[in-house]
Amino acid sequence: MSKILVTGGCGYIGSHTVVDLTDHGFNAISADDFSNSHQKMVDGISSLINKKHVNYEVNLCDMEATERIFKENPDIEAVIHFAAHIYVPESVENPIKYYRNNLNNLLNVMECCKRYGVDNLIFSSSCAVYGNTKELPVTESTPFGEAECPYARTKQMGEQIIRDFCLANPKFNAVLLRYFNPAGSHESSKIGEAPILENTHLVPILTEVAIGHRKSMTVFGTDYPTRDGSCVRDFIHVMDLAHAHTKAVEYLLQKKNETNCDVFNLGIGDGVTVLEAINAFEKINGIKLNYSLGERRAGDVAAIYADTSKSKNKLGWTPKRNIEDIVKSAWDWERNKSWLTE
Ligand code: UFG
Repeated sequence: MSKILVTGGCGYIGSHTVVDLTDHGFNAISADDFSNSHQKMVDGISSLINKKHVNYEVNLCDMEATERIFKENPDIEAVIHFAAHIYVPESVENPIKYYRNNLNNLLNVMECCKRYGVDNLIFSSSCAVYGNTKELPVTESTPFGEAECPYARTKQMGEQIIRDFCLANPKFNAVLLRYFNPAGSHESSKIGEAPILENTHLVPILTEVAIGHRKSMTVFGTDYPTRDGSCVRDFIHVMDLAHAHTKAVEYLLQKKNETNCDVFNLGIGDGVTVLEAINAFEKINGIKLNYSLGERRAGDVAAIYADTSKSKNKLGWTPKRNIEDIVKSAWDWERNKSWLTE
């Protein structure tokens, strides 16, 4: 059983990836300092993988503590690096927090990979690297645009750091995964999105309105040049996204990579508008949401969705779930997650 270190493995996408890796025969351990995840998420993961999940409560900016994980686990074959701050508005307010954490984390993890002979790295990147692109759908060769916020810039810089490292170390292999809009949760409702910090993403806002934690929500902008005036996004179910990581690990371990730094877009390949997402939620879950139509939000792009042919053809990954599956599982999770904070 190949051992995989998942940094940020008790967070949203990380926890789902630990479960998917285990389901596919890998031994996944994690490093998560619970700065934006609940300690009890370990129990949720454990109940799904039928054993006690091993997590190192480590801040990866601490090199000594990070190194201890690698020392204690000389059999790590690949690292999936999720651990990062992820909120666009927060990054605008506090850029130093983002640069310090997201870059130092990555540098420490790569330094440890080098020192301990771990030759495979999968990096959580984002469609944010493309900026406000006019080229739709976005392919992996669409050039980086001007980053809209410090968060996006940390992802652009992270990718560049990895590319430089790969050039200097031809034996080292990386896969950069650019996520579009991850949403939804594991079908069991035992794990799901549960940040400690205030969430600003659309789908969890829908569930928070539905359950009454928020009185109402606003659709940010209805005058975009799209089919109904609201923004278009490529919502990808978190379980499909998690499985793409398993595929990426297999791709590297089976040496199927084309270069030692391959890039893939991870989306469904189709755009859904904000109003369509709200309608899907109301229809599938039989709930009316209290929302109003409002002004545009600063920094939003009108439309972005992925060309997914490369990830389908080279990674052998095809997402199976759609927006209905996303809003249903997100609502199931919202109604089940109170045990996390009890
Ligand atoms: N939205 C609303 N009302 C809300 C919240 C969101 O209308 O209360 C809209 C936004 O304006 C946007 C869409 O829903 O049009 C999606 O917004 P999210 O905040 O859920 O996601 P973003 O598309 O802004 O963010 C995603 C990723 C980021 C990445 C960014 C780059 O989650 O990691 O794309 O474009 F940086």
